[in-house]
Amino acid sequence: MHVPSKCRVCREPAIIDLPRHNANFCAEHFLELCRRQVTKAIEQWKLLDHDDRILVAVSGGKDSLAVWDLLIELGYRADGLYVGLGIGDYSDVSADHARAFARSRDLHLIEISLRGEYGYDIPTAAKATRRVPCSACGLSKRHLFDKAAIDRGYTALVTGHNLDDEAAVLLGNTLRWEIDYLARQLPLLPARDGFPKKVKPLVRLTERETAAWCVVRGIDYLVDECPMAVGNKHLHHKATLNAIEAESPGSKASFYLNFVERMAPLLAGRLADDREALGTCAECGAPTSGEVCAFCRLVTVASAHERVPVELVTRGRR
Ligand code: AMP
Ligand code: FES
Ligand code: ZN
Ligand code: ZN
Repeated sequence: MHVPSKCRVCREPAIIDLPRHNANFCAEHFLELCRRQVTKAIEQWKLLDHDDRILVAVSGGKDSLAVWDLLIELGYRADGLYVGLGIGDYSDVSADHARAFARSRDLHLIEISLRGEYGYDIPTAAKATRRVPCSACGLSKRHLFDKAAIDRGYTALVTGHNLDDEAAVLLGNTLRWEIDYLARQLPLLPARDGFPKKVKPLVRLTERETAAWCVVRGIDYLVDECPMAVGNKHLHHKATLNAIEAESPGSKASFYLNFVERMAPLLAGRLADDREALGTCAECGAPTSGEVCAFCRLVTVASAHERVPVELVTRGRR
């Protein structure tokens, strides 16, 4: 990596270069830039209030630990939620990082285990449904995040999605013109019956920046990517956008931020259609358009399936 020279703000030696801002920063002024970007996102899209009771979904990775840390620093009240997905060592180590961070800051971390509470894990669910692991994983996480926030009276659910994540999903959705997904791809989804407000305060920061935040702040995060996600399309889209960004710094941010500003308002009608009254799941009471929600159907299929070891699925997908 190119080693930058002087901080744009104070002229002391820099620790990071940010071509998109056409500048280098020392540790202190880099942290300040991150705080400013998060504050700007919160104010620009009215993401959070200081009265909000916030639940941060923490995976033990850089983004979710950085967003929890940033929100606490900015004076918000925020607890953490960790979901144990049962992906072998990866899950064990990710839980350790989430717990260690909570302990170090004296923060409250709620833990839910898929195997312990619902009788299945992600490798088994992937086999049982014969779909990619990320599909059962995403469905399980979304359901459990919403349920934990609603049942425990939190007013906002925060995730650590960063600019790279959002731009990559946007590229995927645009390549297929997934209009309904595009309409929902916002940094703020307001609360509605049975769903908490959902907020992504890191969408103005790249993953390189959230990683640097953790390093400078001394936060020990899980560096490994999920072994079951190796080779998925999302990662290809990230690499494609990085290649474009290298040629033309700032493209990633303008692709996503201009989408939110200029394109998403044109799709607002689709979002409204999507919000038509939903019924409630006959088994768990969650909002659903069917009789039994997708999560309860997954639990039925996955918990009845013979347990699948992680390695088999992982090797098969590499
Ligand atoms: P991913 O779905 O892995 O791209 O992660 C997106 C966001 O979901 C992360 O930034 C976290 O906020 C949250 N998240 C992912 N995995 C977990 C987990 N096991 N427990 C709690 N939150 C998670
Ligand atoms: Fe969900 Fe890997 S974290 S499949
Ligand atoms: Zn400086
Ligand atoms: Zn249900």
